[in-house]
Amino acid sequence: MAENNIRTLSVDIGGSGIKVIVLDTAGNPQTERARLETPQPATPEAVIKAIAQLAAGQGEFERVSVGFPGVVRSSVTETAVNLTADWIGFDLGTALQKLLGQPVRVVNDADMQGLGAISRQGVELVITLGTGFGSALFVDGKLVPNLEMGHHEFRKGETYEQQLGRAALEDVGEKKWNSRLEKAIGSLQRLFNYDRLYIGGGEAKKVTLNLPPNIKIIPNVSGLLGGIALWRD
Ligand code: BGC
Repeated sequence: MAENNIRTLSVDIGGSGIKVIVLDTAGNPQTERARLETPQPATPEAVIKAIAQLAAGQGEFERVSVGFPGVVRSSVTETAVNLTADWIGFDLGTALQKLLGQPVRVVNDADMQGLGAISRQGVELVITLGTGFGSALFVDGKLVPNLEMGHHEFRKGETYEQQLGRAALEDVGEKKWNSRLEKAIGSLQRLFNYDRLYIGGGEAKKVTLNLPPNIKIIPNVSGLLGGIALWRD
């Protein structure tokens, strides 16, 4: 197959949903995005089964990109706070490669989301608001992998994820959650002095703040579109 026809199955593993799409070499979607609820408990076996089921409905592809909600090193998952402890030390890349018969690359979900959204200029920070709180940092398009801001202390003895994850949103409501987010943005601005901040994830649509021009809300599909960048060597 010609290099420009290589199709990439892009997979976004989330705490509440698993999503897939097939991208062409330019990163354009070739299929309809498909989604399944994340199985509970979200063990490696159950999640892989869901990915196989989704992949079967996507036609053909020659390689696979995966965004995973935890620290990932050489396609081994090292943390998975919102899934199960079975993921610690699990070689997701190899397991999926065996199952799908194609080369697989795995990165943190917020890293993949950022790759689908950034301008590749200057200091760019990405946060994702979903089940968990994801974060990714880029300098001129170069990723600083596995930035885990979510589990860093934010305020009142709680982490960014405890204050701004989905459980907190459901607990305190949108108004208070937005005001917490405003404080978080201020704190991240002072820490990173970013040129641009992107806010993604399933709950980004609930952001009602008036944002300055260097802060953008990005669609959740960026999490899948970033899959193409994993193969840009
Ligand atoms: C995880 C991150 C992930 C984020 C969003 C956090 O709990 O530690 O790795 O990016 O959730 O899924």
